[in-house]
Amino acid sequence: MTRVIYVNGRYLPYHDAKVHVEDRGFQLADAVYEVIEVGDNSLVDATRHLTRLWRSLSELSISPPMSEPALRHVMGQTIRRNRVRNGLVYLQVSRGESPRDFLFPDPPVPPTLVCLARATIPAQVDQRAETGIHIITMPETRWKRCDIKTVMLLPACLAKQQAHAQSASEAWFVDAEGLITEGASSNAWIVDRSGRLLTRPLDNTILPGITRRTVMDTAASLGLVVEESPFTVAEALDAAEAFITSATNTVMPVIMIDGQRISSGTPGPLCRQLRRSFARVAEHSPVGYVPSKLENQAFAP
Ligand code: PDD
Repeated sequence: MTRVIYVNGRYLPYHDAKVHVEDRGFQLADAVYEVIEVGDNSLVDATRHLTRLWRSLSELSISPPMSEPALRHVMGQTIRRNRVRNGLVYLQVSRGESPRDFLFPDPPVPPTLVCLARATIPAQVDQRAETGIHIITMPETRWKRCDIKTVMLLPACLAKQQAHAQSASEAWFVDAEGLITEGASSNAWIVDRSGRLLTRPLDNTILPGITRRTVMDTAASLGLVVEESPFTVAEALDAAEAFITSATNTVMPVIMIDGQRISSGTPGPLCRQLRRSFARVAEHSPVGYVPSKLENQAFAP
């Protein structure tokens, strides 16, 4: 249970953690976010996640709310104060609070920063990975800048809700050419019948997943061939294996797509191997103390 949430320079009890109704994140989805895994008291791939956060901010011309070391300090404090050993840390940065207007505030206002940490039970995720998950496919409904990690997640919520109604746990979006883009909150992968790993190349249609990147490194370390090449629903249905990647799932096998079993209907060997080897390849940075004077400098330019 999250007990303390960082909001704009203060660690607040859960029920007092609030942002203004005229925050642009609330009214206009003018905000970006990151989800970083906390595994065994360390941050997983934090450098890559923070690099992507900086890129998202820069694509939207939102100023970083603080320096990277200060942000790492806030994450560390939030994780420690909530006693999270395994779980996730969530960061959200909006353009700030200002009377509702489509135009950016001029002069700019300070960005809003929220950081929360939540525990998860690794054994539950591992159990799901033992069984594998069901997914559905549906037409792509999102905008043309899916490479930016914005909080504009309504299409993803609708897709996940529909998946849930069909007893599945993820939805893969399919573009106008019949090619899978990605999951509502994950990247999509298959292993074809010749053993090649396929995942869509990076462009504006998908999020450049950090787990996707580290799984590519993991595959290389195991001598597996990865081709960044798009695939159709028919190719996915005919695949030897299918899986999704995301910070909270790492590598999660897919055993059923649109009610049809993938291969034998059990998690495949490459997927299992990648899941086992992921932690060895990912970056782990300890969630430790940082000198407390950094805390007071949080909003220094
Ligand atoms: N989702 N694609 C989309 C649309 C996502 O929302 C996510 C992550 C990913 C995987 O990215 P990464 O490997 O960096 O987690 C791909 C997060 C976990 C979320 O919204 O909860």
